[in-house]
Amino acid sequence: MMIDIHSHILPGIDDGAKSVEDSLAMARQAAEQGITKIVATPHNKNGTYDNGRGVILNEVQLLNESLQQEGIDLEILPGQENRIYGELVDDLQGDELLTVNQKGLYMLIEFPSSHLPRYANKLLFDLQVKGIIPIIVHPERNREIMENPERLYKLIKEGALSQLTGKSVTGEMGKKIQKFSFDLIQYNLAHFIASDAHNTINRPFDLRDAMETVGKEFGNSTRYMLQENAEDMIVGRMVAKELPEKIKKKKILGLF
Ligand SMILES: [Fe+2]
Repeated sequence: MMIDIHSHILPGIDDGAKSVEDSLAMARQAAEQGITKIVATPHNKNGTYDNGRGVILNEVQLLNESLQQEGIDLEILPGQENRIYGELVDDLQGDELLTVNQKGLYMLIEFPSSHLPRYANKLLFDLQVKGIIPIIVHPERNREIMENPERLYKLIKEGALSQLTGKSVTGEMGKKIQKFSFDLIQYNLAHFIASDAHNTINRPFDLRDAMETVGKEFGNSTRYMLQENAEDMIVGRMVAKELPEKIKKKKILGLF
């Protein structure tokens, strides 16, 4: 039994599933991976897609009805992948933003892929003042964080959590991103793994594969801790987190 906390399974509202048929095919793939609950996290404020609370809650309900009709044993929960933007904290007062499963505790936050905005530390801090824990999605694919992992360390130390993508962990995004993902797990800088599924072909539900990779690399206790963190997230419970550490550059010995 596994929970996937990041997916684009809702039909026709972002660059994920295009139709209900797509959503159902993705759902079947997820069920085959042993996934029982999926948080649907459509893009919001990313420059191309805006998906507010109303449309997300409505689409989640419709898809759950379709899943029941099709006899697929899977539950969709509401969420949102928010690109960071200056007014995000102010907009908490409005009715467009959504926390994970509406529990008011966690919100998925995406940075631009190339960099980390200057105001990010303050904004993620202000979110926490409002009682919301930011989940930084796929930090292992952010160029600035790859070049300077201390930026992520600082955000985690200040209370943010982070989520790796399954494909990064399995090595499908390349050896360099896989190695960096392993470093983030090892130094307690990653707290969740999720598929970030967009379709069944090149961005599929692959959470079991990713968790098996973690089990092989770090042992089952790390694997189950990551899986339990997802269970905590959807019910709005604090996750068990270890003290973050700075990534130590390994010295290359004996070459010369
Ligand atoms: Fe995503």
